Amino acid sequence: MSKKRTKPEHETHDADRDRYRMVAEWASDGILGIDTQSTILFANPAVQRIFGYTSDELIGQKLTMLMPQEFRSRHKRSLGAYVINGKKNLNWERVELPGLHKSGKMIVLEISFGEFVDDGARNFVGVIRDITERKQAEDVLKKSEIHLKKSRDQLRALAAYMHTIAENERVSLARDIHDEIGAALASLKMGVSLLGRRISGSTLAQGKQADFGSVRSMNARIDATMNAVRNVIHRLRPPVIDDFGLVASLEWQLEELRERTGLECQLSLDGVVLEIDDACKIAVFRIFQEALTNITRHANARKVFVTIDEEEDIVTLSIRDDGVGIAPKRLEATGTFGLVGMKERALMFDGQVEIDSSPGAGTTVRIRIPVP
Ligand SMILES: Nc1ncnc2c1ncn2[C@@H]1O[C@H](COP(=O)(O)OP(=O)(O)OP(=O)(O)O)[C@@H](O)[C@H]1O
Ligand SMILES: [Mg+2]
Repeated sequence: MSKKRTKPEHETHDADRDRYRMVAEWASDGILGIDTQSTILFANPAVQRIFGYTSDELIGQKLTMLMPQEFRSRHKRSLGAYVINGKKNLNWERVELPGLHKSGKMIVLEISFGEFVDDGARNFVGVIRDITERKQAEDVLKKSEIHLKKSRDQLRALAAYMHTIAENERVSLARDIHDEIGAALASLKMGVSLLGRRISGSTLAQGKQADFGSVRSMNARIDATMNAVRNVIHRLRPPVIDDFGLVASLEWQLEELRERTGLECQLSLDGVVLEIDDACKIAVFRIFQEALTNITRHANARKVFVTIDEEEDIVTLSIRDDGVGIAPKRLEATGTFGLVGMKERALMFDGQVEIDSSPGAGTTVRIRIPVP
């Protein structure tokens, strides 16, 4: 019968110690032991790297030398209390604490603690990771995120401001065109009508039909110009302003598209009221205009379907075409402002614009605006 040789207990113990020492030697985290008086018992090479001290400078010294001044008395108190009543005042599994490098530089540490008994004495071990660089990188990232958000907010505010200025400018342009050109055309029309009447009364009798014909055609041209001017005024300032209401303006705009392009247009209203303020109405109208302009410019569509509904305090306006659709890379492209402008305008009123499109499958622009 073979006799199994077992090692004496002290030999196994020594082998275990050697193994742990090896692990500590190679560990990239600092491993540091202290007694109940906070005296440093051991420190692996990583601790030396983290704090800049040699092992000789550390062993036998108080742990507080590795802490910023303001943390030292707190550490003494809490270690003393823990030794007596076992109450931990911080998370032993992983806690972020400041450390003090030999050079006097503050460092940020992530530390886990453990307790062990060695030769009957209570000792503590800390596994320490220097996260200063990570923290700095996080800080830089956080700062640049804050900065980015600030610039984005500023840009958004600027866009909103520009929109308001542009709308005001359009109102005053529309007013000028109406008052000056409109009035001039109206008086021209009156003059031509009078002239027509005079010719029909006198000259016609003398057989001058040709003159009467040109007066009539002048009259017709003045009517056409007045219509064109009215259209320009409406484009500059949608009739919402004159209290026709948003729905009427959308209908008018769609009708104009149908006449101009021959596109088949369908509008489903579902009894909506659209009780939103004037600025918001203008925004919805402008988004709608841009969506229709995009359809005429890019979609190569045959049909346009527009639906508006109001549900749970949200107005949804959707404009769908059966055209070529938008390639994903066009959706992400920069340098055009139509789609971006739509989104920005909606955001001004806490709304949003979704664009649903894929090549060959048409495009849907959906505008959602909360109703106060
Ligand atoms: N309904 C649509 N059908 C097909 N393609 C579209 C449609 N709407 C937009 N697009 C595509 O998306 C792109 C971006 O649209 P966007 O309105 O932002 O720019 P744009 O119309 O080209 O220029 P602008 O800045 O004058 O509006 C367009 O260039 C076009 O390729
Ligand atoms: Mg566009």
